[in-house]
Amino acid sequence: MASITTFGILVALLLAIAEPFGQARHGQSELQLRLLNGSSQVEAAYDYVIIGAGTAGLTIADHLTADGKSTVLVIENGKVVDSPRIDQVYSGMAAMGPTWSYQINSVPQVNLRNRTTAVLAGNLVGGSSAINAMMTVRGTSEDYDRWGNFFSNTSTWSWDGLLPYLRKALTFVPPESTVTQSVNITYDTSFWGNSSSVYAGWPSFQWPGLTTQIEAFQDIPGVEFPVDSGAGKAGVYWFPTFMDPKIVQRSYARTGHFDKINRTNHDVITESHVTKIILEDGTATGVVFRQGKGNTTTYTTVKASREVILSAGAIHSPQILQLSGIGPRKLLQSAGIDTTVDLPGVGQNFQDHPMMFMSIVLSNFTTHPSPSDMFGNQNFTDWAQTLWRANKTGPYSMGIGNAAAWLGMPVIAPETFESIASKLENQDHAAQLPPYTDPTVIAGYSAQMKEMARSIRSSNTAFYNHVLSGAGSSGSLIDLHPLSRGTVNINTTDPFNTEPIVDYRALTNPVDLDILIEFLRFTKRYFFETRLKELSPRQVQPPDYVEDPEDLAGFLRSNLSPSEFHPSGTCAMMPKELGGVVDESLKVYGVKNLRVVDASIMPTLPGANTCQSVYAIAEKAVDLIKADM
Ligand SMILES: Cc1cc2nc3c(=O)[nH]c(=O)nc-3n(C[C@H](O)[C@H](O)[C@H](O)COP(=O)(O)OP(=O)(O)OC[C@H]3O[C@@H](n4cnc5c(N)ncnc54)[C@H](O)[C@@H]3O)c2cc1C
Ligand SMILES: *[C@@H]1O[C@H](CO)[C@@H](O)[C@H](O)[C@H]1NC(C)=O
Ligand SMILES: *[C@@H]1O[C@H](CO)[C@@H](O)[C@H](O)[C@H]1NC(C)=O
Ligand SMILES: *[C@@H]1O[C@H](CO)[C@@H](O)[C@H](O)[C@H]1NC(C)=O
Ligand SMILES: *[C@@H]1O[C@H](CO)[C@@H](O)[C@H](O)[C@H]1NC(C)=O
Ligand SMILES: *[C@@H]1O[C@H](CO)[C@@H](O)[C@H](O)[C@H]1NC(C)=O
Ligand SMILES: *[C@@H]1O[C@H](CO)[C@@H](O)[C@H](O)[C@H]1NC(C)=O
Ligand SMILES: *[C@@H]1O[C@H](CO)[C@@H](O)[C@H](O)[C@H]1NC(C)=O
Ligand SMILES: *[C@@H]1O[C@H](CO)[C@@H](O)[C@H](O)[C@H]1NC(C)=O
Ligand SMILES: *[C@@H]1O[C@H](CO)[C@@H](O)[C@H](O)[C@H]1NC(C)=O
Ligand SMILES: *[C@@H]1O[C@H](CO)[C@@H](O)[C@H](O)[C@H]1NC(C)=O
Ligand SMILES: *[C@@H]1O[C@H](CO)[C@@H](O)[C@H](O)[C@H]1NC(C)=O
Repeated sequence: MASITTFGILVALLLAIAEPFGQARHGQSELQLRLLNGSSQVEAAYDYVIIGAGTAGLTIADHLTADGKSTVLVIENGKVVDSPRIDQVYSGMAAMGPTWSYQINSVPQVNLRNRTTAVLAGNLVGGSSAINAMMTVRGTSEDYDRWGNFFSNTSTWSWDGLLPYLRKALTFVPPESTVTQSVNITYDTSFWGNSSSVYAGWPSFQWPGLTTQIEAFQDIPGVEFPVDSGAGKAGVYWFPTFMDPKIVQRSYARTGHFDKINRTNHDVITESHVTKIILEDGTATGVVFRQGKGNTTTYTTVKASREVILSAGAIHSPQILQLSGIGPRKLLQSAGIDTTVDLPGVGQNFQDHPMMFMSIVLSNFTTHPSPSDMFGNQNFTDWAQTLWRANKTGPYSMGIGNAAAWLGMPVIAPETFESIASKLENQDHAAQLPPYTDPTVIAGYSAQMKEMARSIRSSNTAFYNHVLSGAGSSGSLIDLHPLSRGTVNINTTDPFNTEPIVDYRALTNPVDLDILIEFLRFTKRYFFETRLKELSPRQVQPPDYVEDPEDLAGFLRSNLSPSEFHPSGTCAMMPKELGGVVDESLKVYGVKNLRVVDASIMPTLPGANTCQSVYAIAEKAVDLIKADM
């Protein structure tokens, strides 16, 4: 049972070379809000109690306290962490790995030769936004329209309804003209905002080989080149980095929504583990949290007079609901927990973006500088260091990348997309879910698969994602719309003292394999049937003679990672009769004064890395909460 994925190896390699360049900017002395020193400082009651000081939680707390009136307590399991590895933009991966993450391994994946996967999720103030790879991307218009369509065609959970919140969430700082000209970066600020203190910025350098990689997509019929990553369109495009370009450091929920706050109505308590939400006559009235010091564990109860807001992320929000008696009755029974609200969808509908590496190299790629010059070309790295030290410019200002292809099935598989869509439509959807799944959850899954069949036939839902490196080789491939659904459930053996059980159920829907096989075939065509063929492509992995679908499937079972660290869907915003957990106001069905606001409410994944969408969800939630004040 191999628990280290190819991606894990890559991360380890990058960590080995990634030097911490930034200076720690944060110090406790800069903190101006009330960061409580112990549970004795917690007030008896607050208007709002927010569970989790992560991406969504900090965004909401900042906005709710801005009027100076509403009182808010944010309860966070992790600590305030100051580290140059978190601030560092270079490589995008310096903060990844186990250091600031929960320590969870998935259950062995039966369709992946029983491999397990590290489930990374931020365990510190800032949540996953503090450790993510800083890729700043949003989905296409269809990704957001799909969310509202599960309710009605007039839902405000749509592209038009979310665009104002996507704008509000971030301040876009355009790249410098010397960089845009060097590789022809285009952007359109009309898709962006300028009022947030979370930034989408750009490095001051790009690899010239990216132009070659991007232009080769012009040889493929149907590929669009949207002018901006925020346009809601599939295609090949440039996208920014979650960084503050003035200081060339990570910009995240902590820097944007925590560090500079000085308000007596905004309290935060860290190293405090929420164990349950208190329900009285169907109303959420407070929260219990645990603090461990030495051998003593203390439990504290705090009241919420208006609302409890659950923002613990897609791995822990369903766990906290289940521990509070809100979830599938049978599961709670076997854990010895009384069911207060039988809500079968809690912890189901789990989704993440599967990811893999296919290795194709261009033998005659001679463009320099290229990423390979960062490994062993002393002359080049000396130059890069000089730029960085002098002005924080050059290659060390780059994250994981700023260009990628995000393409629909009709573009990458013009001959097979229709049969793949029909196969999905005609399959027995219930058979793809775990045995004894509740009929409402099955109905929701079936509704999703009908939408997905439609999306497979649309050029404006991206399935295929190929991150471009600027080197003469292929980058990671990501499936943006997996059809398999997993589960995140409490461990019934010792539910209050264990991490939840994470099962991606990767490749349980066989149509995922059909789609992934098309990814391998398309990537090969991209290298061997476009102008890139002039550069002598050579396929290394899987070996080029592997063409039989069964063998390609075998390659995928051995190499696919079920996660790009984008867990979502486990407290889905869907109608209750479709297995939903929250309604369009993000209120939990059957409970008063309780909302979930984080990646868990996404009914289906956007065709993009998830962080920008989480910020937008949080911004919209603030208006929904204020409307009820
Ligand atoms: C390694 C990694 C790389 C990624 N790369 C990218 C990327 O490049 N681009 C992108 O867009 N997205 C990326 N993502 C995904 C993105 O960061 C997340 O989707 C997003 O940050 C999730 O926000 P959230 O509010 O749902 O949860 P989080 O930000 O994770 O916040 C949840 C918070 O709740 C706290 N918490 C949990 N349980 C409890 C409890 N019981 N009591 C108290 N507190 C609790 C946690 O400690 C955490 O602070 C990445 C994620 C990871 C982990
Ligand atoms: C917590 O302790 C620090 C250091 O003693 C102090 O500066 C800070 O004001 C305290 N916070 C509160 C809310 O009392
Ligand atoms: C995976 O584990 C299951 C259950 O332990 C076992 O039955 C199966 O043979 C294993 N499969 C592989 C490929 O090892
Ligand atoms: C929206 O749904 C209503 C009711 O089902 C229908 O009458 C109307 O035509 C639909 N509108 C659009 C734009 O699809
Ligand atoms: C730059 O990009 C634009 C928009 O995609 C395109 O029209 C133009 O031809 C490109 N110019 C060069 C020199 O590549
Ligand atoms: C910010 O955006 C608003 C609305 O688009 C615009 O009117 C204003 O000029 C912008 N301000 C700056 C400083 O760019
Ligand atoms: C925080 O706000 C208070 C009240 O307005 C003010 O007295 C104090 O100086 C501020 N603290 C900092 C560090 O800005
Ligand atoms: C904690 O418990 C262990 C074992 O019960 C004991 O040996 C140790 O002395 C305790 N420590 C403290 C600080 O009480
Ligand atoms: C060293 O690097 C500089 C800057 O990239 C470049 O101009 C120069 O040609 C390089 N010299 C050698 C010998 O590679
Ligand atoms: C740093 O920036 C200054 C001002 O733009 C410039 O004069 C200088 O050459 C830069 N240094 C390096 C090493 O690029
Ligand atoms: C569930 O918890 C028990 C008790 O701590 C532990 O032994 C077991 O490994 C856990 N199960 C899983 C699947 O993590
Ligand atoms: C690749 O480059 C080598 C050395 O320059 C050359 O001999 C060879 O013909 C090139 N191959 C192709 C297919 O262009």
